[in-house]
Amino acid sequence: MTRDYLTELLAAYWFAPPVALWRAVELRVVAEERYEHPLLDLGCGDGLIGQVLFGTGGQVDVGLDPWEEQLRRAAQSGVYRHLDLADGHHLPYADGTFATVFSNSVLEHIPDVSSVVREVGRVLHLGGHFIFTVPSDAFRCLLDGYVRRMAAGDVHGAEAYAAAVDARLEHYHYHTPGEWQQLLAAAGMMLVKVRYYIPEEVERLWDRMSVRYGIGQRRSAWGLLVSRRLRPLGYQVLLRRIVVRSLSRRWRSYYEMDVSPGEKGGGLLVVAQREE
Ligand SMILES: C[S@@+](CC[C@H](N)C(=O)[O-])C[C@H]1O[C@@H](n2cnc3c(N)ncnc32)[C@H](O)[C@@H]1O
Repeated sequence: MTRDYLTELLAAYWFAPPVALWRAVELRVVAEERYEHPLLDLGCGDGLIGQVLFGTGGQVDVGLDPWEEQLRRAAQSGVYRHLDLADGHHLPYADGTFATVFSNSVLEHIPDVSSVVREVGRVLHLGGHFIFTVPSDAFRCLLDGYVRRMAAGDVHGAEAYAAAVDARLEHYHYHTPGEWQQLLAAAGMMLVKVRYYIPEEVERLWDRMSVRYGIGQRRSAWGLLVSRRLRPLGYQVLLRRIVVRSLSRRWRSYYEMDVSPGEKGGGLLVVAQREE
């Protein structure tokens, strides 16, 4: 049976629905790949994505993240057999340790990504795979706020809007498939697959909803409504149920959309193989 990642992710991220939409589409795409063991989840974060993708019961051999608080949560997720508090620039593993390195929405947050890619190449078996997702080279110009400003001829406003999104999300780069190919080749890996996901309509909805739900804003009505501090009042259980039920219906067609052949989407899946 096909998994319904949209409903699963809305249940997990009910307090930030646009995050659920993006990640649900992402999971639908990454779930089509094969993950051989030993498997490293590089930048595993709190383990929530690992949990939905791989399940609990120690399905992933190793999770690594430099953020202690996130790693504590990852330990509670039950996904990882082993966890390491470490940085992708210096992976604490011997050469050729892993058959697969998976990294979901991590590399865009690392300014000097080439040394991390080199480290991945080093710790992979010959023939092993590096599977990762990043926002694509089209991400900025598919933002609803960018598209609308450009359509109105406001080039500076469009650029400022995209720059504010970069800053809020701490995105440092948006490499093209060709640039990833070069970075991977320099680390002894061959690009075997690139796939754009998050078509324009989906990214525009995601961007509009991020504004509407006040994602990343210091103060917003929604932010207050879903704040942890108000959880003891009990109404959030009902709110969560309403969010899951209504948005899993309303956003269904967006969740199921694929990028048309020859077009770009806001997300990029890359699969590379360590050269023999
Ligand atoms: C957007 S989160 C993604 C977490 C997880 N992969 C997921 O999909 O939910 C980005 C993660 O990258 C991690 N990260 C940032 N810089 C890193 C680095 N230099 N090496 C490894 N991980 C890093 C952060 O600590 C954070 O947990």
